[in-house]
Amino acid sequence: MPLQRIPEAQLRQARELIAAAERVLVFTGSGVSAESGVPTFRGEHGLWRSFRPEELATPEAFARDPKLVWEWYGWRRSTLRSCRPNPGHLALARWMASRSGVTLVTQNVDGLHEAAARAVAPPSSARGGGAAPIKLHGSILVDRCSRCAYRREIGGAESAPPPCPECGALLRPDVVWFGEPLPEREWSRAIAAASRAEVALVVGTSALVYPAAGVVYHAAARGASIVVVDPDATAVDRHAHILLRGPAGAVLPDLLR
Ligand code: OAD
Repeated sequence: MPLQRIPEAQLRQARELIAAAERVLVFTGSGVSAESGVPTFRGEHGLWRSFRPEELATPEAFARDPKLVWEWYGWRRSTLRSCRPNPGHLALARWMASRSGVTLVTQNVDGLHEAAARAVAPPSSARGGGAAPIKLHGSILVDRCSRCAYRREIGGAESAPPPCPECGALLRPDVVWFGEPLPEREWSRAIAAASRAEVALVVGTSALVYPAAGVVYHAAARGASIVVVDPDATAVDRHAHILLRGPAGAVLPDLLR
């Protein structure tokens, strides 16, 4: 798709809206990581174009063929190893470290928002790396037990899901699969932030997956102005006060400078 420059007047309007807001919700999806080399889900080269979610990202799939599901996540983890935060993640992290009142809610499991926060304000610095994002879909960089509460950071290159050292059930990636509930605490924090936000900045998501996408509708219903950053149409465009049609890696540094 040929990208056109976003008109300066539109960017200025969005900047003013955001600067005037005491509380801003940022809601991101896989598009914010596209320029880091992480595939999105539904686009032309999206993961769900080549793989069937019900064969790989459901509890039933894991029960049926744990090794297959484990291998698929192993492949995704290995491709992530070479991915770094892009200028969009970094602009967002820098901006969040420079002001208060921003809550970042992400559907992404790739850890790139956290990596960007560490890059712009390392944990040893006064700002301590900024507030951690609220992760609605978990983290691909963590394993958890499929039965008990055991969790660990991903480690070796096991070719099949290993047993939990505490209860012996199989370990699985700590991500939310289709048919599973979102983590309760994250969900209530996201909804609370959406209720308070004067502006919701929605970046790189088709906003088709529920309940996560409901966060944006909740913010809109509570009166937040919606600013969408995405090169393509999204399900929330009709609620948008300002549509910034472009890639996050180019638009966010310009918007949040
Ligand atoms: P989608 O693949 O549905 O949407 C990606 C969005 O990113 C689209 O709107 C693209 O136009 C946009 N996009 C592509 N490149 C971009 C760029 N450079 N800058 C900004 N935007 C860009 O992915 P998500 O909305 O993230 O859930 O999908 C939501 C959930 O569906 C995921 O968290 C995952 C998936 O199934 C689970 O696995 C539970």
